Parts: sequence; C-alpha cells; structure tokens
Amino acid sequence: MNLLIMGPPGAGKGTQAEVLVKELNITHISTGDMFRAAIKEGTEMGKKAKEYMDAGQLVPDEVVVGMVKERLAKPDCRNGFLLDGFPRTLAQADALSATLAGMSITLDGVINIAVPRAKLMARLTGRRICRSCGASFHVVFNPPQQEGVCDSCGGELYQRDDDNEATVGNRLDVYEAQTQPLIDYYAQKGQLININGDQEIKQVLEDILANLRK
Ligand code: AP5
Ligand code: MG
Ligand code: ZN
Repeated sequence: MNLLIMGPPGAGKGTQAEVLVKELNITHISTGDMFRAAIKEGTEMGKKAKEYMDAGQLVPDEVVVGMVKERLAKPDCRNGFLLDGFPRTLAQADALSATLAGMSITLDGVINIAVPRAKLMARLTGRRICRSCGASFHVVFNPPQQEGVCDSCGGELYQRDDDNEATVGNRLDVYEAQTQPLIDYYAQKGQLININGDQEIKQVLEDILANLRK
C-alpha cells in the first residue's frame, strides 16, 4: 500500500504512522524526522532546515522535493510507504504526482486527520519524543510508564525545539495558509480518507484501519 498521512501539526500523524507501518508492513517516511536526523548529523542541509523549522516556517520546496525523490527510490519503498508530513504545498503535491507517475506507482489513499485548532497547542507543548527511536508521547494524553523514559526502547525523552507556544502558533498559521488547500486537491482526485482525530488514539487508529479495509 502507498499512502499519505496529512493533518495539522499535532494531529497525530507520527503517533498513528508508528503503528500503521507495522500493521501494513510498509516504510514510514517522515520529512520532519528526516530533517531532524540531518540536524543531528550536522549536515549543511540540516543547518539550513533548522532555521526554517525553528521559525515554524516550511523548508523550501526544492529542498524537500529532492530529498523525498531520493528516499522513494530506495528499495525499502517497493513494498509500500506511508509519507508523513509531505506534501505540504501545492507545488510539492504536483511534484509528488509527477515523481510517482514516473515510477509507475499509484497512491492508494490520503489519510487526513482532522483536529480543531484549539486542541493542538496543548498536544504540542506537552509532547515528548524519544531521542533513540523517535516514538512520541504526551505528558497528559499519552504518558510513558516512567517519566522521561521511552516505553518502546528505554531511550531518553526530550521536547522538540519547535514545540514552544510561539513557534507552534506560526506552524498552525502556516498549515492553514499553505497545506490545508491540499485537502481539496486530494478530495478532487477521489483519494481523500477523512478521519476524526479528536478521539482517543486507539479509536483514531481503528477508524483509519477500517477505512483502509473498505
Ligand atoms: P513535522 O515534524 O512533520 O511536524 P508537524 O507537521 O508540525 O507535525 P507534528 O510532528 O508536530 O505532529 P504530528 O501530527 O506528527 O503529531 P504527533 O503524532 O507527534 O515537521 C516539522 C518541521 O519540518 C515543519 O514545521 C517544517 O519546518 C519542516 N518540514 C517537514 N516537512 C516539510 C515539508 N514537506 N515541506 C516543508 N517543510 C517541512 O502527536 C502530537 C502530540 O499529541 C503527541 O504528544 C501525542 O502523544 C499526542 N496525541 C496524538 N494523538 C492524540 C490523540 N488522539 N489524543 C490526544 N493526544 C494525542
Ligand atoms: Mg510528526
Ligand atoms: Zn524509544
């Protein structure tokens, strides 16, 4: 299966993706995770991306598109993939369509997780991430068994640099201006799967799987 997962910052893309890729035996491709890995490695691309990310702005299209094209060409994508956080602009969506057409790959669906804006600030400022495996937790909504420690791998939990109130505000504005129009884009193509993300994490997962089985 070849899928996209979209939704505003904090909608639960990463949380759901983590489980979905295991269920469906496909590869998780998160552009945000790829940038954070590049920042950690200290690459030139990472340094550039960090400036945009810390400001809550999008990394320029040509950088993201090039990175995703390279990633999709790797052998582990042949059994299927779940793209998380890409595309985020109409230009990225067009570039993706062209890339997939060139590879004779068709999309099986675009999962859109909808959550009211008012709920997203608390989700993001309370999020904690595992430094080793990237799993995501929440101090209130999805707490780890032991504070500061990852349930999956025992790694140390940290707070993302862009999960402060000011940056989250920008990220939500940028989402509404640049990414929200993609909902119509994929609805018109008949590929959109709308999911209510304002429910328990488990229920959201069940709804996604039920829709994919249709
Ligand atoms: P990215 O890392 O993709 O961030 P994002 O889109 O802002 O989304 P998040 O990862 O913050 O949210 P999520 O939906 O994954 O939520 P999660 O599951 O963690 O991108 C970061 C930056 O990189 C961008 O700002 C941009 O600069 C750059 N970038 C990335 N891709 C790009 C692109 N294509 N083009 C240009 N620039 C790009 O959940 C959030 C919290 O809520 C967690 O604590 C979780 O435990 C909790 N939670 C999840 N589900 C529920 C639920 N149902 N109920 C209660 N709590 C829940
Ligand atoms: Mg994420
Ligand atoms: Zn971990």
